[in-house]
Amino acid sequence: MPSNSKLDGQVALITGGTSGIGRETALALADRGASVAIVGRNRKRGRRVAREIDARNGDGWAELYIADFASRKSVRNLAVAFRDRHDRLDVLVNNAGTFRHRRSETGDGIEATFAVNHLAPFLLTHLLVDTLVESAPARVVTVTSELHERGAIDFSDLGCERDYDGMEAYSQSKLANVLFTRELAERLRGTGVTATAVNPGFVPGTGFTREASIRNRLLLGLFSVLPLPFTKNVEEGAETVIEAAASPEFSDVTGEYVSDGVIAEASDKAHDDDVRRRLWDVSAGLVGISPDYPR
Ligand SMILES: NC(=O)c1ccc[n+]([C@@H]2O[C@H](COP(=O)([O-])OP(=O)(O)OC[C@H]3O[C@@H](n4cnc5c(N)ncnc54)[C@H](OP(=O)(O)O)[C@@H]3O)[C@@H](O)[C@H]2O)c1
Repeated sequence: MPSNSKLDGQVALITGGTSGIGRETALALADRGASVAIVGRNRKRGRRVAREIDARNGDGWAELYIADFASRKSVRNLAVAFRDRHDRLDVLVNNAGTFRHRRSETGDGIEATFAVNHLAPFLLTHLLVDTLVESAPARVVTVTSELHERGAIDFSDLGCERDYDGMEAYSQSKLANVLFTRELAERLRGTGVTATAVNPGFVPGTGFTREASIRNRLLLGLFSVLPLPFTKNVEEGAETVIEAAASPEFSDVTGEYVSDGVIAEASDKAHDDDVRRRLWDVSAGLVGISPDYPR
């Protein structure tokens, strides 16, 4: 069970806080005293979660921001809207994610899985990094997956144009989450801001299947109702994310991959420092920022 650390007076921003693991994380951080800003595309779902948080903690405890991570402009607007209302950010949880059965491109011309799962948190963190540093000690928690182990960063075809496979695109984006976290931790060393990448485990009961194939939706629906030893319910899936975001045990942990509540070994590819630095520079180019951030 996550420890019951108090976050009174803290501000947490949880992307994808409108459903699944993000919703559970937002509820838990609010229960520990943090005011929470949740982000999603679906206003109706978002309002429901914000009302739920307010009902448990008090009116105005939760804020809802509507943003589409498939759009760089939308990510930028989110950061501006958040900074207009807040001069501190103690916890940023980069949780929003997608799995695309079919290849699609964003309006910015980027393959959607890579754009939503990697480039959006990369850009959002950049846009909020000054606020995080000013609020230090602060934490950036990025939700990755065990499937990062199956991933490879293919710089010659980051958008998987040659032969799209939803699982490969997803695994590449989740490996990018771990590489991003390791490079971010290096760059933030000494600032009091930590960065961790968290694997929530296999959590078939979330809304994650929405954009999957019918076959996968049926399969995951079945997994979510059967008591299988390798699956977690949504509360269990969020536990490690909540620990990394809030527990004193993780206050100094940075640059690590965390799974099942403990620091774990990420794949060999996640430890390739050349790929890590190159991915950073390429990502900065794709979102139109200086690769020097946050130096
Ligand atoms: N479920 C698992 O087994 C599992 C395993 C390993 C890792 N993960 C990771 O856990 C994270 C959360 O997933 P989940 O399982 O909790 O799924 P979920 O219930 O579908 O939640 C995904 C969240 O991301 C938001 N989102 C999706 N696309 C977005 C976009 N284009 N712009 C803005 N927000 C967007 C969704 O909000 P809206 O729909 O309102 O936009 C929703 O709040 C993801 O990063 C996923 O890769 C999940």
